[in-house]
Amino acid sequence: MKPLGTVLGKATAALTVVTVVIAVVLNYFDDPVPVKYTSMTEDMKTLEENFRHQNKSCFVLGASGETGKVLLQELLERNIFFKITLIGRRQLTFEGKPYENLIQEVVDFEKLDEHAVAFQGHDVGYCCLGTTRAKAGVDGFIRVDHDYVLKSAELAKAGGCTQFHLESSRGADKNSKFLYLKVKGQVEADIEALGFDRFSVYRPGVLLVDRQESRPGEWLARKFFSAMSAMGSTAMSIPIQAVAKAMVSNTLLQPEQKAEILENSAIVSLGKSAENK
Ligand SMILES: NC(=O)c1ccc[n+]([C@@H]2O[C@H](COP(=O)([O-])OP(=O)(O)OC[C@H]3O[C@@H](n4cnc5c(N)ncnc54)[C@H](OP(=O)(O)O)[C@@H]3O)[C@@H](O)[C@H]2O)c1
Repeated sequence: MKPLGTVLGKATAALTVVTVVIAVVLNYFDDPVPVKYTSMTEDMKTLEENFRHQNKSCFVLGASGETGKVLLQELLERNIFFKITLIGRRQLTFEGKPYENLIQEVVDFEKLDEHAVAFQGHDVGYCCLGTTRAKAGVDGFIRVDHDYVLKSAELAKAGGCTQFHLESSRGADKNSKFLYLKVKGQVEADIEALGFDRFSVYRPGVLLVDRQESRPGEWLARKFFSAMSAMGSTAMSIPIQAVAKAMVSNTLLQPEQKAEILENSAIVSLGKSAENK
């Protein structure tokens, strides 16, 4: 009989080989990074300064969620808007000076038309709204991830908003057989049809975050993709901070087209450029 140490050593080696092979395969499938982001040499500080002088205002949908919370921090730290409004279904509590000037609009998402005023007068809109099928059921999921998001975008556009930044999902496709990806793809297409001067879609993979809410399936996926991410794969997962940084940095850039889609690798790359600023 072989000693236990030898067996364990072989098992560990085998596991390492399997993980490395998976990482290599995932890297092979990594999204191509658009040239725009790899060759971006513009100084973020200068871009921020220029943007700040334009005295623009923004609103955030989903600021109580995991991405929304970090996005709000990023917006406050970089201080590029003279006014930030949070639009949500409940009043949020904040402590400290940075939050003093925040405006909150509490709305009933089932009666958004009655809250049109909340969506008026913003230059830029950020949307990190979303639920899950497990939490809300099929109808509830479609209602939040499609209907609430689209109606908010419509009201914002009617209220003068020119830029809309939507956190969608990797694999979003209105023709997908999978409900989640189909709904995400459909809302992307419907908002694009509204004709914002600028519409940016972010399609992150698995969000790497220590989520407050318990989602066991997602927890397992996170553990796996965290390991993959540590091995350099940028296609499948992303730290939530990188998404927030990318959304803010991208606001400062001049896109080549009115509508753009940032896949996971592009978000990672843009998030890093903000870290290095
Ligand atoms: N989880 C992932 O790995 C992953 C990957 C790719 C893309 N995404 C997408 O990224 C987006 C943000 O994800 P996240 O994990 O940061 O979100 P999250 O933590 O689940 O937060 C969701 C936000 O939506 C709001 N919301 C949910 N149900 C609502 C309802 N019925 N009425 C009004 N507001 C409602 C929540 O408000 P309350 O705080 O009031 O509940 C919260 O502000 C989502 O669209 C998600 O589908 C997620």
